[in-house]
Amino acid sequence: MSKMNDTFQKRMEHHHDELRWLYMELYGNDGMFAELCDQMYEYYKERDQKLRERDEEREKNPEWFKQKNMLGMMLYIDNFAGNLKGVQEKLPYLESCNVNCIHLMPFLDTPEGRSDGGYAVADFRKVRPDLGTMEDLAELAKQCHEKDMNLCMDFVMNHTSEDHEWAVRARKGEGEYMSRYFFYDNYDIPAQYEATVPQVFPTTAPGNFTYLPEIGHHVMTSFYPYQWDLNYRNPRVFNEMMYNFLYLANQGMDIIRIDAVPYIWKELGTQCRNLPQVHTIVRMMRMISEIVCPSVVLLGEVVMEPEKVVPYFGTVEKPECHMLYNVTTMATTWHTVATRDVRLLKNQMNIVNRLPKKYTFLNYLRCHDDIGWGLDYNLLKCWGMEEVAHKRYLNDYFAGRVEGSVSRGELYNEDLVLGDARFCATTASMCGIESAGFEQDAEKMEHAIRADVMLHAYMLMQTGIPMLYSGDEVGQVNDYSYKEHPTKWEDSRYVHRGAFNWKLAEDKENDDTVSGKIFQSLNRLEQIRRQEKVFDGDADSWIIDLPDISVLCIARDKEDDRMVGVFNFGDWEKEIDVPEVGDFRNLMDGQLMDIHKVKLPGHGFVWLKRM
Ligand code: GLC
Repeated sequence: MSKMNDTFQKRMEHHHDELRWLYMELYGNDGMFAELCDQMYEYYKERDQKLRERDEEREKNPEWFKQKNMLGMMLYIDNFAGNLKGVQEKLPYLESCNVNCIHLMPFLDTPEGRSDGGYAVADFRKVRPDLGTMEDLAELAKQCHEKDMNLCMDFVMNHTSEDHEWAVRARKGEGEYMSRYFFYDNYDIPAQYEATVPQVFPTTAPGNFTYLPEIGHHVMTSFYPYQWDLNYRNPRVFNEMMYNFLYLANQGMDIIRIDAVPYIWKELGTQCRNLPQVHTIVRMMRMISEIVCPSVVLLGEVVMEPEKVVPYFGTVEKPECHMLYNVTTMATTWHTVATRDVRLLKNQMNIVNRLPKKYTFLNYLRCHDDIGWGLDYNLLKCWGMEEVAHKRYLNDYFAGRVEGSVSRGELYNEDLVLGDARFCATTASMCGIESAGFEQDAEKMEHAIRADVMLHAYMLMQTGIPMLYSGDEVGQVNDYSYKEHPTKWEDSRYVHRGAFNWKLAEDKENDDTVSGKIFQSLNRLEQIRRQEKVFDGDADSWIIDLPDISVLCIARDKEDDRMVGVFNFGDWEKEIDVPEVGDFRNLMDGQLMDIHKVKLPGHGFVWLKRM
């Protein structure tokens, strides 16, 4: 047997029994399981030699993605550089941002105007023509790998576009394809689902079903009406989607983000979220990728409350996702910005710090989606903050409608019945850079820049992998031009999905400009993060409790090194006594600082290292 066979065989033997067991439990179909295994071998054989070498290296170093030099950036190909070839040309810029992991936002073929930002995939094996080709993608991956960079893409597995071949054939009434979705010839079952399943887009896409008059059927559409939910009870769907997954992995992906994963299994009488079968499927995906393409990391998009998120890591013996978004910490951060009250954030960070270190979170301030106010309202209640009223306050605050707010942005999917809404804006706009620029107020601008940099410093100090949102590195503000766009105006998430402003990037070295100031500060922080061993993934991290309600203090320890970060979420200057002993040096400027007299301006911060 050749070496190649050996490697595949060994990995297969390692996982076979469990994989078969889970597959049979879900599908009880031997023939389809055999087909899956055969196809896995085909994808293994098709895998480029260089990628197979990458697999073997990373099998020896499975923690590769937890290195302290990991820094991600998410970007839209067209907004950033026109097309895939453009992104390749701009790799030096990304390197100058210290980024070594690029998350390309959805770029597969999708119908114009019915795309949900690319999350309605019409063909899993074709790149949207204006962005390039599959060959361009594979070439970009190759170039990234040569520069020691990683590439990440989405795998939208919960649904397909209504233009996907399966959907087109289902709409024609072909039973084989109808069975890949949820079709009903009357509203009885849909009505039963609607009784228990919450809505994802209550305003922009109410309900969970769409009626198709041409065939007199209702089809399940949890997201937009043109995104048809796939039926994972059908083993054909699972198998074919796994082949798509492996095909994309073989283009050279290092990280695959599994989109909207909690939704993939549906069961009458439930909320159709986080059902046990979802975990079975994710576990199978993990094993399939460990057999065929073990250098690939699974990033789960689980935008749920903390107790629902953590199970997606699986267990030590049976891991599921390698990485998950730190979504509650992100939302709690903005709550803290609006309230100047760090108590909830301390509590949230304590929860995360107590989790096993092998759990890797992806930390971020903003992403392409809205901010949902998924906070711990039981705790907030103890401090007098009621859910509905508090959400309203947060939205009013960030929309700039509250006295003292410098933020600008827009509500998203306001649910008038539940009195709920989410929020959209860029980090810079939420920190006041947009309003200060508009008012041409230099003092306000200085404060806004300070807040923006402080939040990044705090985010970069969290345990896990930091992920920037393209444009944040130069303080890009909201873009309201989507309102004039016939297919975008209804979806306010486009306010923070504007085209990248290369003019701002030109100023990145110029300290006299807003973008230069932000870029330089982040650059310094990122450099420090790469160098200091306290940022290793296995360092200890905890919160130092300070009496001041507006000041957050984080400590990190690795071997003999200790670092303390102090972050002032309040508007006014403070002198803070940190209960630590020893001499500390400011990592940003090298100056000694008295740990008992840490002076910080409003929204200032300091990173200190014990000497
Ligand atoms: C994810 C994406 C979001 C999209 C949804 C449906 O939540 O982040 O942008 O609308 O999935 O695919």
